[in-house]
Amino acid sequence: MKLLKEKIMQEGKVLSEDVLKVDAFLNHQIDPVLMKAIGEEFATRFKEAGITKILTIESSGIAPSMFAGLTLGVPVVFARKRKSLTLSGNLYTSKVHSFTKNETNEISVSKDFINSDDVVLVIDDFLANGQAALGLLEILEQANAKNAGVGIVIEKGFQTGGSLIREKGIRVESLANIKSLADGKVEFFEEDPT
Ligand code: G4P
Ligand code: NA
Ligand code: NA
Repeated sequence: MKLLKEKIMQEGKVLSEDVLKVDAFLNHQIDPVLMKAIGEEFATRFKEAGITKILTIESSGIAPSMFAGLTLGVPVVFARKRKSLTLSGNLYTSKVHSFTKNETNEISVSKDFINSDDVVLVIDDFLANGQAALGLLEILEQANAKNAGVGIVIEKGFQTGGSLIREKGIRVESLANIKSLADGKVEFFEEDPT
């Protein structure tokens, strides 16, 4: 997605060989115009998939998911990382290990909001080692819901998450796929024409 890649080039900061900071438009300050375009792009790519619901994870997956949900006309559910006062019992849960942070967190979704009639698009901001996406996919299995695929804003294609998920036969659509962050420079895979 050209607009997104331009934004990454203009406002992204390469923190190391494997971390890209995008606090200026996605992870802290959020650019609503860009998020709307991102949501519409996900909706276009998955418009024939019969999606009934979007599943994402707090916090940075919510903004792009909202616009995809708005365009597709479906609700957005976000998995919680912390136990909430009102969210208890009646939960799907899965463990998500972050290699970056070296911690494991339990994520949860209420059984009230996903069931076996749903066709669900999973959306997240980053795809790195794939653990968050795999945790969301596990929740869909618990719900016996159908998965229509995974939509990612920024994939770091030099890490293992993308192949881990695609190897399972799952459709992964990333709007920007980074080939390398070496030498302080962002280099994209160029297969994506949009
Ligand atoms: P994984 O799910 O692909 O295995 O990712 P990992 O554990 O490595 O990621 C932990 C957190 O760091 C996630 O956000 C993920 O989105 C984010 N992340 C991973 N790589 C990058 C990167 O290069 N740049 C940025 N900006 N973020 C990255 P989170 O902690 O769940 O935070 P949030 O959703 O509340 O923002
Ligand atoms: Na994040
Ligand atoms: Na995230």
